[in-house]
Amino acid sequence: MQHAAQVLRPAVSGLAHLRHDRAAEMDSGPGELSIAEGRILSLSTSSDARIRIDAAGCAVVPGFVDCHTHLPFAGWREREFGARVAGVTYEEIARAGGGIRSSARSFAEASDEEILAQAQAAAAEMLAHGTTAFEGKTGYGLSVAAERRALKLARALGGRVAQSTVSTALLAHAVPDGYDADAWIDAIDAALPDLLTAGPPDTLDIYVESVAFGNDHLRRMGALARRHGLALRAHVEQFSTNRSVPVAVELGARSVDHLACMAEEDIPLLASSDTAAVLLPGAEFLGDERVAPARALAAAGAICALASDFNPGTSPVLSIPTIIGLAVRRYGWTVLEALLACTLNAALGDRLLAGARLAGGRQAG
Ligand code: NIG
Ligand code: FE
Repeated sequence: MQHAAQVLRPAVSGLAHLRHDRAAEMDSGPGELSIAEGRILSLSTSSDARIRIDAAGCAVVPGFVDCHTHLPFAGWREREFGARVAGVTYEEIARAGGGIRSSARSFAEASDEEILAQAQAAAAEMLAHGTTAFEGKTGYGLSVAAERRALKLARALGGRVAQSTVSTALLAHAVPDGYDADAWIDAIDAALPDLLTAGPPDTLDIYVESVAFGNDHLRRMGALARRHGLALRAHVEQFSTNRSVPVAVELGARSVDHLACMAEEDIPLLASSDTAAVLLPGAEFLGDERVAPARALAAAGAICALASDFNPGTSPVLSIPTIIGLAVRRYGWTVLEALLACTLNAALGDRLLAGARLAGGRQAG
């Protein structure tokens, strides 16, 4: 016997997010819905609908929002995966000129059209896996001119794909040749007004790690974000514990991403803040990283989001269903918790995917 379609519904309509200690309030049960112009009109059928689809035996869930990818990028770093499996660390690879620097060389060598074609093909595959909106980061430029180009390409990509997109300027991803970390932040400070005209991002991002930047640089990036009216996000606690979470929370960051090595004592602070915890189990799994304390964050009431971290090195994974599977098996989250994290919470009431500054001409929905 065929079962009626199962429809996932929010606890209350109009929520910007749902803290994970309330995830069970979401409801998945037999139901129906109406859609007009790509948007859910109501959680019931409409008598004047032009097309009716019988979804018996299927689950009807919102489109996935992938709130952390590194699109657009050029090429892949599959050989590094082989090295990591054999025991070479990400830090060792980075110090030998691999990692982000290697992707920056590929980015510089590829034409605009090659980069956009690779990203468009990926976006098409993401759509087939249910991703209807995604965020993409710059960060493989490693010079002011190349970051400007990355922002422009992100904007061009937004105009070419079916999804809603938004771009983040990950201007402090690795320390470029010829600079130390302080001097590079000085350079960003000076170049930011011009960079923001290139393909305006609505968010700044920074990678805090031994091979990248420190908490003082995170503070400076927070000040730059505030000065330019942008939101702040941060890659933190991926490979080591730097106690960046309290710093980011104090700066009012929109999200802290990765968190595999976050200090246990910072969980209550993050859970009681408005800073989202973006968990990236694809990078953890493929990078042999520690498992983020996602179960404890959810139980403590953090705003938990889940994303692919789709990038050419640490997480060449674009399938959100795969990410959901990893979160359920590795974090011990319920399926509802995982679905909440890559739909409502990943959109964060359109703040992670801010409608006003979309990379393309389309609006987030
Ligand atoms: O999110 N940690 C820094 N950034 C990326 C890695 C990007 C790369 O290695 O190309 C991440 O995992
Ligand atoms: Fe990332």
